[in-house]
Amino acid sequence: MKPARYSPPVTVPIVTHLAIQNLRILNNVAVDLAPQANLFTGPNASGKTTVLEALYVLARGRSFRETQWTAIIAEREESLRVFARVFDQGKTVPVGIEHDRHQAVIRIKGETQRNTRTLLEQLPVQLIAPDSHRLIEQGPQYRRQYLDWGVFHVEQRFLGAWQRYRRALKQRNAALKAPAKDAVLEPWELEMSSAAEEIDRYRAHYVETLSPHLDDLGRELLNLEELGVRYLKGWREGELAMQLVTSRTSDAQQGYTRAGPHRADLELSIGNHKAVQRISRGQQKALVFALTLAQARLLNERVDRKPILLVDDFGAELDDHHLKRIWSVLQESKSQVLLTGTDLKERLSTQTPKDALFHVERGEVTRVL
Ligand SMILES: Nc1ncnc2c1ncn2[C@@H]1O[C@H](COP(=O)(O)OP(=O)(O)O)[C@@H](O)[C@H]1O
Ligand SMILES: [Mg+2]
Repeated sequence: MKPARYSPPVTVPIVTHLAIQNLRILNNVAVDLAPQANLFTGPNASGKTTVLEALYVLARGRSFRETQWTAIIAEREESLRVFARVFDQGKTVPVGIEHDRHQAVIRIKGETQRNTRTLLEQLPVQLIAPDSHRLIEQGPQYRRQYLDWGVFHVEQRFLGAWQRYRRALKQRNAALKAPAKDAVLEPWELEMSSAAEEIDRYRAHYVETLSPHLDDLGRELLNLEELGVRYLKGWREGELAMQLVTSRTSDAQQGYTRAGPHRADLELSIGNHKAVQRISRGQQKALVFALTLAQARLLNERVDRKPILLVDDFGAELDDHHLKRIWSVLQESKSQVLLTGTDLKERLSTQTPKDALFHVERGEVTRVL
């Protein structure tokens, strides 16, 4: 095995080597990655986004642009494979996923794992894609996903509390349909309420510690003086159990539970206004970077790790001014970043030995710098 070319501080992971087989157009790709920026350029439909998709599949156990495995496994192939060498805490760890049409086999250090959780912890990966502005413009589920990704990585107990809540919520929703429901509902509502308190504590604390980082990045990337974030927990002040009792009839009419942490949201504001009303599409994109990089800084501060950032179509919707600002913050962060774009080579000048440029064409990836 080749040693990593560069010894980063302990605040990693970084992926030193990435191999991809039979993922869409990428039949057989193997590349050594640089510890900081890795730019993938090339013509349309050549496989640039698929490189990012590969690392995302490895880290999260699913694609970010397709739910059907059959659609992303290369035509006429049975399964796809992604393998990476991850440099982490002084050691190189081999991790891999193989996925056929139905299931995954995950291997970490040669051992088969049952679920993707271990990979998720091994490889904190963030993604910014052309549709990421929905984080600002669209429904609360995108902001909850954003919030919970962060909470998951800084608070080990979060996932357990969340799973406990989901189970009880599912039972309550089913019980709402039963004729004599009150006795059946009660224990599930108490369980939901106690899990909800725990989830709420973690989320509220997370947002509190995230907020100063977001404030800084609002200034650094967008010149915004008053970028604010407010956490809405998903139910009114007071115990959730009480509120669930009083809403049994109306919830039953609706067919689902309308209060609880599964309805949480984040409200982004600029001064006294909702952020979405105040900024252009280009600024929205910059705001997505501010949100994402704020999480990265917080992760670094709280658990001494840096997430790997994937940016698909970096240049899109960003004018040169915002592009250069984001680029310089990315470079200062010393995080590993994989970026795709058609004109990145022309638009981004600084190339350091810690960066790499790749050309992608018809599913072949070649390092050019
Ligand atoms: N299951 C598949 N098998 C083979 N090729 C595929 C499959 N799905 C998509 N493709 C091809 O892979 C390419 C996807 O490229 P993509 O990574 O989106 O390109 P880029 O980001 O460079 O524009 C396209 O050429 C598409 O036709
Ligand atoms: Mg693309």
